[in-house]
Amino acid sequence: MIQATWIRIDHLDAPMGFGSRTPLITWNVEGAKKQSARQICLYEGDQLLWDSGKDGSDAMQMRITDCIFSSRQEISCRIRLWDEEDCAGDWCGTRWEMGLLLPSDWKADWITGNYRARKQKRYPVDCFRKSFFVKNVKKARLYLTACGLYEAELNGKRVGRFVMAPGVTDYRRRVQYQTYDVTDLLSGGENILTVQLADGWYRGGCGALGQRNQYGTETKLLAQLEITAEDGSRTVIASDGSWQWSDDGPIRFADPKDGEIIDAGRIPGYGGRAKATSHPVIPSASDNVPVWEQEHFVPKRSTAPNGKLLLDFGQNIAGFVRFRASARGGAQIRIRLGEMLDKEGNLTLSNIQVNLPGVCSPLQEIRYTCREGLNEYRTRFAVFGFQYAEVDADADVDLEEMESIAVYSALERTGWFRCSDEALNRFADAAVWSAKGNHLDSPTDCPTRERLGWAGDAQIFFNTASYFFNYAAFSKKYLRDLYDWQKPDGKLPQIAPDGGVLLPMKPLDGSAGWADAGVLIPYRFLKRYGDTSVLTEFYEGMVQYTEFVIRRIGKKALYAKPLKIPKELRRFAVNTGASYGEWAEPADVYPTSFFETSHIHADISTAYTVCVLDCMAEMSGLLGKETDSKRYRYLASLCREAYQAMAETAEYTLDTDRQASLVRPLYFDLLTEKQAEYARKRLLQALENYNWRLGTGFLSTPLILDVLSGTDPDAAYRLLENRELPGWLFMAESGACTVWESWEGPFAQEGIASLNHYSKGAVCEWLFSTMCGIRIEGQNHFRIAPQPGGHFTFAKAEYHSIYGKVASEWHRTEEGTVFRVAVPCNCIAKICLPDGRTETTGAGVTEFFCAF
Ligand code: BGC
Repeated sequence: MIQATWIRIDHLDAPMGFGSRTPLITWNVEGAKKQSARQICLYEGDQLLWDSGKDGSDAMQMRITDCIFSSRQEISCRIRLWDEEDCAGDWCGTRWEMGLLLPSDWKADWITGNYRARKQKRYPVDCFRKSFFVKNVKKARLYLTACGLYEAELNGKRVGRFVMAPGVTDYRRRVQYQTYDVTDLLSGGENILTVQLADGWYRGGCGALGQRNQYGTETKLLAQLEITAEDGSRTVIASDGSWQWSDDGPIRFADPKDGEIIDAGRIPGYGGRAKATSHPVIPSASDNVPVWEQEHFVPKRSTAPNGKLLLDFGQNIAGFVRFRASARGGAQIRIRLGEMLDKEGNLTLSNIQVNLPGVCSPLQEIRYTCREGLNEYRTRFAVFGFQYAEVDADADVDLEEMESIAVYSALERTGWFRCSDEALNRFADAAVWSAKGNHLDSPTDCPTRERLGWAGDAQIFFNTASYFFNYAAFSKKYLRDLYDWQKPDGKLPQIAPDGGVLLPMKPLDGSAGWADAGVLIPYRFLKRYGDTSVLTEFYEGMVQYTEFVIRRIGKKALYAKPLKIPKELRRFAVNTGASYGEWAEPADVYPTSFFETSHIHADISTAYTVCVLDCMAEMSGLLGKETDSKRYRYLASLCREAYQAMAETAEYTLDTDRQASLVRPLYFDLLTEKQAEYARKRLLQALENYNWRLGTGFLSTPLILDVLSGTDPDAAYRLLENRELPGWLFMAESGACTVWESWEGPFAQEGIASLNHYSKGAVCEWLFSTMCGIRIEGQNHFRIAPQPGGHFTFAKAEYHSIYGKVASEWHRTEEGTVFRVAVPCNCIAKICLPDGRTETTGAGVTEFFCAF
């Protein structure tokens, strides 16, 4: 019988404290070939709130725009489908709960510790306490947020699973709150709510130098506990000046990058009172997935050459440490965490630490003073990027247990890849781990050195991330971060949420390939999820950004080299606006140095201008804005002509061994036919000259295999299979369990040697889209065009798309290649086989055979 499964509300699973008034309901179909009609009903308790009626559509998503939702409503959502024979299935359902939708819902005051915070000083974690009496509790919700990081307990029990809450935003513009069901934590009589408040991103270390006070100096907390009694009456326990406060608790220091200093013998006295303060922003629900503790790893222990205890957790992660130790009161434990060992075999942080006079960041250490007896520690307010720990403990400390705990946003896994080459499997796993290590409420470049929401990295990795994970809610939250920053002239940032940008980096806001994320991510989101809300929410901002980009056309920065192309074409080249360029190519292709790399790149800027205009032309067309669409298309064609002229000059010649300079114009379709033909051949020559090793940086790494497989699939495989430096499989063969920032990995060019940077893992998109050939073509439609090749004897990808689970695998036999394709219910796939056959299949598993 037909039924709706995998029902999601704005891509979330049964959200609590949901903020959207126009939720998108999506589902998959099971138990039938086709969905011929659907009906959605929303209830609050037994009361019907909204009924779509039976509507004869096969779409597996419906946005509800005409139901009036109110704060705190508990909605039960029921879906009924009809199959191809018009037989109705059973009702299936999910639920969600609305958060606080109106500013007037907030009764609580912002509170802060009772001290005057100074910028230069560091402070211990604040401890707040509120005691209250309740009886006959039917339901209780705690709405909680902070400028800083909070962790709450009710009657000594941890509230919720969210860690590093409330997540990261530009707190000056947006503060997101969480909603917890705390009904079961309350008891009749006296109850005690305690909350710890730490610096977090708000005033703790951000960016390469661990700059502090990025968003403010006074950390603060907002808490509202709403208790509904059996008789329906509601009591509100709200943060205010009556809350007890002290800062004498065990956490003496907490910094998100540097770590924690704990004095376990301390117990907060709560001897003072909280101070009421204010914040200009009304908190909103993030409608993003929560951040949770995830996998735990037990280490292998050994003694390092320096005599210290060395722990190898076996996986490079971003996360916490947990231990149990029996000790004498006052005994010391010092733990330093890092990604690698030096030549001698001792822990080193040299690949991730910035060391300048007066600055050393990140420290990644825990300093722990034991209490007498059993000590139990879990990190709360810091996240470390590490695989190894060096433990320096007093002789009488008995470290009984130690674990590392991965901490990341609870993105649902949606993509799996396997093939006959274990090195490629390991690389794909490394990319997944780098994704896990760099998605903590916001995407980051790495979890160590900078730990910033670099827009370039996020756009580069979007397609890969959204194969591996249900990425919709997360990426939408990131788009909000980007657009929260937008300047009146339309400019978008290099990093979002704002923060961590050093003075010399300021001119790089608006950087081509980085700021373009504001258009490229919505465009890819739309293709992936068929969810037009990105247009509703961000189109205006995108137009403003596009105008910003358009204003750069024809301009030349004072210090830019003049372009040697005809004047009438120069008017359409972009020779202004500093950008990061290709970034992090192999050292012998183009050495990376900040000052040399981050200047004007007329070719890259012109190319990305075309790319932005092309995406905008398509998206505005979709919205029926024909005038906009025509204008963008026209401008793109003029910029293309300018690019074509540039490609004939010595400066930007296509006669180059620099792979990125050939891949980029080919991928963005910038060249004349003749130039393209030349560039394709020249790319093969460039690869040959570089021994079929990879020479691209951040921007073109996700593009190169696509470009090659378009004309010469063997060449794509030859490059993929390369096991020498630089190459994807070189990383895997070198034991990388996360993706390196630089091709050279731990031996990288100075300063860019993080071992957990997902950007170069963006090639995984190709494993799904081309090697196994799974692409979404539109609503309920796939195109499956697997492209076997190289030495691979089998490959298999499964992808739980928005329209259901689709899979494609192939394996070689003596006689030829067998293809197996699984298409989800209610969907159609056009299968394109390498022998030129095309077939259209509906739901189910189908096998095909090709004689080669
Ligand atoms: C970061 C990158 C970022 C880049 C800008 C680096 O230091 O780690 O991932 O995109 O700067 O080019």
